Amino acid sequence: MVDIKIAPSLLAADFSRLASEVATIEDSADLLHLDVMDGHFVPNITFGMPVIAALRPHTGLRFDCHLMITNPGDYVGPLAEAGADLITVHLEAVGDPRPLAEKASRHGLGFGVVVSPPTPWDAMRPYLDLCEMVVVMSVHPGFGGQSFIPEVLTKVEALRKEVDSRDIRTDIQIDGGISPGTIRRAREAGANVFVAGTAVFGRANRTEAIEELRQVIGA
Ligand code: DX5
Ligand code: ZN
Repeated sequence: MVDIKIAPSLLAADFSRLASEVATIEDSADLLHLDVMDGHFVPNITFGMPVIAALRPHTGLRFDCHLMITNPGDYVGPLAEAGADLITVHLEAVGDPRPLAEKASRHGLGFGVVVSPPTPWDAMRPYLDLCEMVVVMSVHPGFGGQSFIPEVLTKVEALRKEVDSRDIRTDIQIDGGISPGTIRRAREAGANVFVAGTAVFGRANRTEAIEELRQVIGA
């Protein structure tokens, strides 16, 4: 049995009071998803090490840092110092992720790779053994609140087959447009980690929002 994890994305939280926003998910979420954007790899800018470091003392949740940045290798040490636990990097940004995986491990960080919607799943295949988690984007990276792209589910299915056939424990995360209306298909395709921004922080009661996501997939 795989572990099911819900990872609320801070991108949809109220940025004027981040610590209290995170407190609303502390007991019901499994991970905190942090979308780091540089205005270069994606056409949007969010936050980086200073905000991550400021949040660190306010929560015990594991920090899942999704790096939508052009040169992630330059920030592995600073992110570790800021309190990241796991970093995921876009294959579209890094080419060969092996040196990055090594660097992450030297800094005590978990590591994973992400593919944007146009990138085929098998681009990840050579790196599965390096990854604690692989991520299939179900929207184009850069913004929260977009519609789920169902065509990416074939990639999730293929990854699930590959991971199970190799008997490895790599988590398969899906990121973008996850809601009570889409999470079931993502789970059926084989994802076990679900990022949800709008579907959690867009709701007044975050505990209920997370519970509802779990209920739909019987978790
Ligand atoms: C998009 C981000 C997502 C986003 C998800 O670039 O990677 O993590 O915050 O937000 P929703 O759940 O609103 O699609
Ligand atoms: Zn993300």
